[in-house]
Amino acid sequence: MGLSGAEIRSRFLDFFRQRGHKVLPSASLVPSDPTVLLTIAGMLPFKPIFLGQEIAPYPRVTTAQKCVRTNDIENVGKTARHHTFFEMLGNFSFGDYFKVEAISWGWELVTEVFQLPPDRLVVSVFYEDEEAWQIWHDRIGIPAARIQRMGEDNFWASGATGPCGPCSEIYYDFAPDRSGEINLEDDSRFLEVYNLVFMELNRDSEGKLTPLAKQNIDTGMGLERMAQVLQGVPNNYETDLVFPIIQTIEVITGASYHKSNEKIKTNLKVMADHMRAVVHMIGDGITASNVGRGYILRRLLRRVIRYGRLLGVNTPFTTTIADRVIALAVDAYPELQNQQEVIKQELQREEERFCQTLERGEKLLVEVLNRSKKQISGNDAFTLYDTYGFPLELTEEIAAEQGLTIDREGFDRAMTEQQNRSKEAHTEIDLLAGSAWQELSLPSTQFVGYDSLFSVSRVLALGKEGKPVQTVQQNDRVQVVLDQTPFYAESGGQVGDKGEITGAAGKITIDDVQKSGDLFIHFGTVTEGTINEKDVIEAKVLYSDRRRIQAHHSATHLLQAALKKLSIPKSVKQAP
Ligand code: SER
Repeated sequence: MGLSGAEIRSRFLDFFRQRGHKVLPSASLVPSDPTVLLTIAGMLPFKPIFLGQEIAPYPRVTTAQKCVRTNDIENVGKTARHHTFFEMLGNFSFGDYFKVEAISWGWELVTEVFQLPPDRLVVSVFYEDEEAWQIWHDRIGIPAARIQRMGEDNFWASGATGPCGPCSEIYYDFAPDRSGEINLEDDSRFLEVYNLVFMELNRDSEGKLTPLAKQNIDTGMGLERMAQVLQGVPNNYETDLVFPIIQTIEVITGASYHKSNEKIKTNLKVMADHMRAVVHMIGDGITASNVGRGYILRRLLRRVIRYGRLLGVNTPFTTTIADRVIALAVDAYPELQNQQEVIKQELQREEERFCQTLERGEKLLVEVLNRSKKQISGNDAFTLYDTYGFPLELTEEIAAEQGLTIDREGFDRAMTEQQNRSKEAHTEIDLLAGSAWQELSLPSTQFVGYDSLFSVSRVLALGKEGKPVQTVQQNDRVQVVLDQTPFYAESGGQVGDKGEITGAAGKITIDDVQKSGDLFIHFGTVTEGTINEKDVIEAKVLYSDRRRIQAHHSATHLLQAALKKLSIPKSVKQAP
């Protein structure tokens, strides 16, 4: 085996350190740039500098940056080189050196430090970039036949708007003996290992290009790709950066990577890839949810769990893989050390949450697959999403395995209808806080909250969307009546308590409590599992909130008393 991933990383950084670059640690995967959800390239943390909005702390910088891209997630595990999580090695010049140095150093690094034979390399330039062509040809001495002029592919931009510029790439040729024209798009033969972007333009929202104040350099070398080339393995997954994770998955699942068919191999690769992504994402503070980057995390993690189940694992397993991911990455990304427990707790929580609903969901899924001819209806996909926690993309992928598609428009419609329903439900919730509860003839709620912030209680009634129901489940907006409660209900200017109701199979987060006659109505959202009428539950008030509320309440009384003392009686004021 050639150079290890760690050696490639440190040789890259050392090479540029020796050439006046400041080595900076990787930035977080959560970018400060609001136009993207995740850090998708090594240059992203430096975007404000390229745009002239921030002053560069150093004129030359080099980094190994953790990145996550999900734009071509369907290729992950299927091609040799696609990932969601990857490391990008980069050297950056902020208005300092430009094309000559970037190209000369790039070539020196690749051919001398990494010792790739020049006759295995091909370079590309943007077809209008005569200057780059000349540098490669006249200065470096690359034969014209090995310099390819390319179109839009060689114009790099971090997004629809923002800093951009022509780029020049170095490709490794896996099959130099193959005759015929050089076609860099043939990825069975060529692999792009290093991209040099000559960042000198800004694209505005109308697509207009204007020169940036300074000419900059942004480069990116995919660490896993370089490792593939230098370690002589057939794909990025078999490098020392990823394969140990696959080996852990082999132990957990009993599957053997090398003896498996392509489908199982792909599943193992996807699991390893996604686990790298989720570990680093949680490490950078992302938690699973149904929106934004939290949804990306959820989608990746639930895909891993489902693949694990397909390989026959029915007990929680993601934290075991996480240990391996962390051990492999912690030297380069020391922030993982302190986050280890947080990462594992979040994995455990999300895995439990998903497994609870997965079994029921899988039954429905089989039914849906059986009854759907060509397409899964939007409503079915929505039920799987909303009630059973199947990310739409996961249902889509399972459907595709059976040759089915999903009615996406129908799904969007069902989503909008549900959002409208929950808005309407809010109006009904107010109704329920009123006299409607009285019709249920429930015994008065006993308030035990003066002595305690906790009680074991029985659920006497549940309400959802304005109606009494027997059961409530995850994501439902609900009202709960208990036989006894420690929750203070809003009255006398003091707001209701917040806290949690926890049953054997579910949890409700309570965010408001109102009185309806003698009944205390707890308002909340089911955050886990299910809760049923007659369940015995634990009701727990959030202490910190109650303390603050009490303090406010007392302060109000004190203020009132003080004002009374201070106010001048009318008779005095009117006296001559
Ligand atoms: N920004 C360029 C890329 O991502 C080079 O770093 O390829």
